[in-house]
Amino acid sequence: MTELFPVPADFAKNALIDEKTYEEWYQRSVNDPDGFWGEHGKRVDWIKPYTQVKDVSYSGDVHIKWFADGTLNVAANCLDRHLETRGDQTAIIWEGDNPNESKHVTYRELHAEVCRLANAMTDLGVKKGDRVTIYLPMIVEAAVAMLACARIGAVHSIVFGGFSPDALAGRIQDCDSVLLITADEGLRGGRKVPLKVNADKALETCWSCKSVIVVKRTGGDIHMVAGRDHWYHELTEKAAATHTPVEMSAEDPLFILYTSGSTGKPKGVLHTSGGYLVYASMTHQYVFDYHDGEVYWCTADVGWVTGHSYIVYGPLANGAITLMFEGIPTYPDASRFWQVVDKHKVNIFYTAPTAIRSLMREGEEIVKKTSRASLRLLGSVGEPINPEAWLWYHRVVGDNRCPIVDTWWQTETGGILITPLPGATALKPGSATRPFFGVKPVMVDAEGKSLDGAVEGNLCLAEPGWPGQMRTVFGDHERFVQTYFSTYKGMYFTGDGARRDEDGYYWITGRVDDVINVSGHRMGTAEVESALVAHPKVAEAAVVGYPHEIKGQGIYAYVTLVADEEPSEELRKELVNWVRKEIGPIASPDLIQWSPGLPKTRSGKIMRRILRKIAENEFGALGDTSTLADPTVVDDLIENRMNRG
Ligand code: WT7
Repeated sequence: MTELFPVPADFAKNALIDEKTYEEWYQRSVNDPDGFWGEHGKRVDWIKPYTQVKDVSYSGDVHIKWFADGTLNVAANCLDRHLETRGDQTAIIWEGDNPNESKHVTYRELHAEVCRLANAMTDLGVKKGDRVTIYLPMIVEAAVAMLACARIGAVHSIVFGGFSPDALAGRIQDCDSVLLITADEGLRGGRKVPLKVNADKALETCWSCKSVIVVKRTGGDIHMVAGRDHWYHELTEKAAATHTPVEMSAEDPLFILYTSGSTGKPKGVLHTSGGYLVYASMTHQYVFDYHDGEVYWCTADVGWVTGHSYIVYGPLANGAITLMFEGIPTYPDASRFWQVVDKHKVNIFYTAPTAIRSLMREGEEIVKKTSRASLRLLGSVGEPINPEAWLWYHRVVGDNRCPIVDTWWQTETGGILITPLPGATALKPGSATRPFFGVKPVMVDAEGKSLDGAVEGNLCLAEPGWPGQMRTVFGDHERFVQTYFSTYKGMYFTGDGARRDEDGYYWITGRVDDVINVSGHRMGTAEVESALVAHPKVAEAAVVGYPHEIKGQGIYAYVTLVADEEPSEELRKELVNWVRKEIGPIASPDLIQWSPGLPKTRSGKIMRRILRKIAENEFGALGDTSTLADPTVVDDLIENRMNRG
């Protein structure tokens, strides 16, 4: 029996949403979506109010539009509208990599800075609809850059600072960015990240990108290309601190964010303005039970969707105090998170299971020596949280006092979809619990039949949907329809498997496609494979995930070398470095198995099911191998398997 954690009485007293309200709102959101969202859409300031609410179809001519005839500016919603009521309140608390470095930026200051950059970008010729790539560390300028784009109607595409020059170049080329905003270097765990050097390399193959704005973060020695590169501080110093926000249609694009799928290159997930902001701000307020004046900290990087929705757009639209952390959980030591919580009196703390598991290893003492008395609510995101880590988080970090919201969602969904509401939902460790407003989960079997009651299956989402959903794949609507709406007719397929229990709670079991989740970062096995086979000594490669104690999943690569190449420890290191260089450190294979042959069907298809089982060290349950062209390769793979844990 799973232990049930009811809503603590004193938490319930002040909570924004109680159980009864959740039930009522949820029913209305799915039965009368136009009425429900018509009302809640008003949480955003519209320049021209909408008269249409929902225009969505998951079949036929697949399209998703919300509030389509309304106009607004997202940056004005995150800044200008707060100036009168809370201009001098902190908007962003920035905590540097170095524990002696931090600062508070008020809404008024942030507004002025965003206006300056908006003016500077306009002077460089950036116009509404242009794409701007952002490749920055976790510094305030990252939020400024996002909001300045939103202010002038440019579409930002953030590339995580851990990605390689090649990965950056691919993302600039795919959307033809006209401007890149980067920094001289990043700083993480006391180590420098050569952002400008990487950017220079990437730009060698990017013809669309005419200008680069460079933030001076470390003062490291870099090369500025005359006529192309501009210092951020020089441009903004001379720019005016006022700017009229550009009027945008609700369905004008706000940002593109590249994410891995089961096949091909990463997709440019496109989010638009009105519906996204309504959904990001509403989920931020209700899932985190955010009350005015509270200090809220999401430890993600703005390079991921979590940073977009729950460091920048959601919190700032709500006039919240949002903490931005430049560093890593283990620097200078493994109590850094809790020290920052005490230093800034953080009330709401949102992190990933992989961070919790790695800190768990360090023991309780290091947590217990901090106070954490300010904490009121904890959150988890990015991958399934194992009950053991959940219970530790609850007992040790939250002192048995703070509810935990385990929030399931995706880059594609724009905001949280399955989650407890902390004042309404009794918790079960390891379960993301119940759907948010507008979200209709459907469990389907492999044939596409909807399943009722307590079952396990593939997780799909049915109409009406929620306003924060992605609208298309940038430049490839057909791929959008194919990827998400063709597996199961009339439904959005998430790529995740799940179990629904007898109380209607959802338990996400993980990806059922060829996507792996490494430390909460999403990786397509096909991407790692194509990086490996690009190496001259590799003939063939197959990549699968396997259970990893800290990372959730690790990357397991089966590699067949070209004739005359011999496996060696040196070559193994060379291949790991090669993948790091091609994609980035997050794609590094954890285990490489030299494989003279791979299990293939007679038509030449690699049987990944078998490779997954061997990588999981569960080769007793290989199933039918009779269709293999050469069944003996399996014996060799089992004998030389790398994971024996
Ligand atoms: C995939 C989406 C959502 C922002 C961060 C990741 C997995 C995410 C949970 C959770 C179980 C989760 C899913 C999903 N996932 N949150 N609370 N419980 N699994 O965004 O990179 O688009 O990855 O992350 O497998 O499909 P993403």
